[in-house]
Amino acid sequence: MVKASFAALTEGEVYVPGLPSDYVSEKYGIPLGDIAKLGSAENPHGASPKAMAAMAEACQRLDIYPEWTARRLREAIARKYGFEADNVVCGSGETEVISMVIRAFARPDEPVLMHNPCFPLYRIYSNCEGRRPVFTPMGKDFDPLIDQYIEALKQNPKIAFITNPHNPSGMPVSEADVRRICEAASDETLVVLDEAYIHYSESEGCMHLLKEYPKNVILLRTFSKAFGLAGLRVGFGISANPELIRPLRNIKPTWNMGQLQIAGGIAAINDDEHVNRAVKTVVEMRNYVADRMASMSAFRMVPGSKANFFLTEIRDPALDSTKVFNGLLERGVIVKDGTDIPGLGARYLRVDLNLKKHMDRFLAALDDIASR
Ligand SMILES: Cc1ncc(COP(=O)(O)O)c(C=O)c1O
Repeated sequence: MVKASFAALTEGEVYVPGLPSDYVSEKYGIPLGDIAKLGSAENPHGASPKAMAAMAEACQRLDIYPEWTARRLREAIARKYGFEADNVVCGSGETEVISMVIRAFARPDEPVLMHNPCFPLYRIYSNCEGRRPVFTPMGKDFDPLIDQYIEALKQNPKIAFITNPHNPSGMPVSEADVRRICEAASDETLVVLDEAYIHYSESEGCMHLLKEYPKNVILLRTFSKAFGLAGLRVGFGISANPELIRPLRNIKPTWNMGQLQIAGGIAAINDDEHVNRAVKTVVEMRNYVADRMASMSAFRMVPGSKANFFLTEIRDPALDSTKVFNGLLERGVIVKDGTDIPGLGARYLRVDLNLKKHMDRFLAALDDIASR
C-alpha cells in the first residue's frame, strides 16, 4: 500500500476538541439549554452582531469567487493596527496560519520550539509535516520560565512559538519578557507570538513591538475568541516585514477565505463593543470563580490566568481528572480533561470562563462531586 510521507500522518496524535453540547445533552438526557459548555474557550455572548449583519448581506455574493488573498479583510486588519495589507496574511482560523508557518519556515526534521504543555496543534502539525517539536518546560503553576525558554533559543530552532496568554494555563508573558525573547532569537529563528487570547488579558499585547523586530517576528491572532466567530474560521498573521508574509500567502490554499469569512472579519475587527462586553464578563467571572473556589479543599483554581479559561487542580487524592470530567458531564458541564492535553495530565482540568449561570453550575457540580 502507498504510505503517507511521515509516520505521524497515520499513527500520530489526534487533536481532542471540547465535546459538543448536543452530544452531552443526548447522552445524559439533559436539556440542551442547561448544558454549561466550558471546554472550547468560546465567547460568552456569541458572535459579533456586526459580523452577522455583514455576512447576511454577503450571502448575495456567494456565487462569486472571493478575492484569493482576502485583500479587503487584510486591509481592514492592517488599518486597525497601523500596517499595510502586505503585512497581513489571513487563514481559515489561526490554526491554518500556524500550519502554513510550520511548512514555510522549517524544513523536514528541523526543530520547532514550544512550551510543554502547549496548544496541541503546534506539536501535531510539526509532527505531521515531519518537522521536529522541541520543548521547554513550565514551572510550578505554569510559570513560563522565560530564562529556560531563552536557553532553548540558543539551539537555533527554526520556529519558536510563544503563547500569550498561554493555553492551557492562561499565564501571561510580560512585554519585557517578549522583548527578551525577540532579542535573544538569532536571525535563523522565526519568533511566533500567538495572541489568540490577548483581549482577555486586558493588555494591548505586543502588536506595537513588531516594528522594532522586523527581521524575524510574526504575530498571530484569531476571530474565534473575543470576536465570537469560532464557527466562521478566521485568523491572521501579521509582521512588520512583508517578506515574512509573502511565503505564507504563496503557500496557503488559494481560496482559503470565503465571502462570508471576509465580510464577517471586516465587520468584526471594529466591533469593539462586542469585544469589550466579552472581556468584561470574563474578567468578572474570573474574580467570582476565584472567590468561590478559595473555600474548596478538593479543588484549587490555579492562580494567574489572564485568558478566558483557567486550570482547576484536583487536590483530593481519591479523584483524578477523568473521574471529575465524567462527573461534570453527568451534571451537564463540559470542560477539558487534562489527560487529553499532553504535558498537563491527570491532576488538572481546563475550564472556560463564561456566563454566571454556567459558572454556578460548574461550582455546584464540583461541590457535589467532592461530597460523594
Ligand atoms: C493558543 C491558540 N492559538 C490558536 C488557536 C486557534 O484558533 P482558531 O483556529 O479557532 O482561529 C487556539 C484555539 O484554541 C489556541 O488556543
